Amino acid sequence: MAIDRRILTLDEFTIQQFRGFPQATGELSSLLRDIGLAAKRINVEVNKAGLVDILGDYGTTNVQGEEVKKLDIFANNQMMGVLRHGISCAGIGSEEMEDVVIFDDETSNKSKYVCLFDPLDGSANIDVNVSIGTIFSIYKRVSELGKPATKEDFLQPGNKQVAAGYVVYGSSTILVYATKVGVNGFTLDPSIGEFSLSHPDIKCPPTGKFYSVNHGFFFQYPKQVQDYIHACQGKVLDTPESYTQRYIGSMVADVHRNLIKGGIFMYPGTAKKPNGKLRLLYECNPFAFIAEKAGAIATNGKQRVLDIQPTSLHERTPFYVGSKLMMEELETYLKQA
Ligand code: AHG
Ligand code: MN
Ligand code: MN
Repeated sequence: MAIDRRILTLDEFTIQQFRGFPQATGELSSLLRDIGLAAKRINVEVNKAGLVDILGDYGTTNVQGEEVKKLDIFANNQMMGVLRHGISCAGIGSEEMEDVVIFDDETSNKSKYVCLFDPLDGSANIDVNVSIGTIFSIYKRVSELGKPATKEDFLQPGNKQVAAGYVVYGSSTILVYATKVGVNGFTLDPSIGEFSLSHPDIKCPPTGKFYSVNHGFFFQYPKQVQDYIHACQGKVLDTPESYTQRYIGSMVADVHRNLIKGGIFMYPGTAKKPNGKLRLLYECNPFAFIAEKAGAIATNGKQRVLDIQPTSLHERTPFYVGSKLMMEELETYLKQA
């Protein structure tokens, strides 16, 4: 079968995109290629999850006390492996590892970037064939090139991200990444094993129909959030303004849908967990960066997520992200005393 040469692969696209920057050394496109390779390997395992002994629990809990699935560990090892052996990454931070890993070898110490990731997001959905994903965030190091990366490289506010992205292993597999010039999506073409540009220049519609929140915690949410949820429910049915509720429980899939179709995703703090569940560095910051580059908004209810100064690798934050007009309406509720 002839391959349609009008469709750019991920590698072709990134090389072309970064050629526009005179200072580009090719390290960032190489880093994105490495992540694309890990995503393809994870995708293969996700697709045969029911056939091999990869479903179920690994038998431990991670640093956040959550049950670890075998695929969490597989995905973590794939991401760590490609980044360690690539030429662009000096160290990593992962949901599945207590502390950052500084690669500290001759090549890595010369690398410009560090990468933070959630290797498998939505892992509670693995065993039941529901979409899951990978989320990543890339920073330029602040430490001296030629020396090992330091903790400070990882604890930068989200507004310093150079690139961020995610992969959804869903009905098809899509990799979306954002840089300062915009957001683009690449669907994995299984016939050639390449991510191919399918969603050029993604812009989030200014409003939409979807609101995504875990209703199970409704009575634990702050009163302002409860009021907003009531307002979502109160939109008059069968009018263009009516909303519908969608919550998959895999943030990658929920936010991806809302980014493409228009919508709002919320993971508020609760009475028991005032900072909510989602992790700032490798869940919220990458999505906040992607959202803003696509014309959407992301806050923690009080401030722009990207302006939060992180203090630790696994810190959590309440998270609200979505279409501009929907977020502005939410903000009018959150401002109320
Ligand atoms: P992870 O699988 O990486 O721990 O993340 C799961 C997250 C996120 O994807 C999802 O939106 C949220 O947890 C769902 O949590 P609740 O079941 O508390 O709503
Ligand atoms: Mn996650
Ligand atoms: Mn995870």
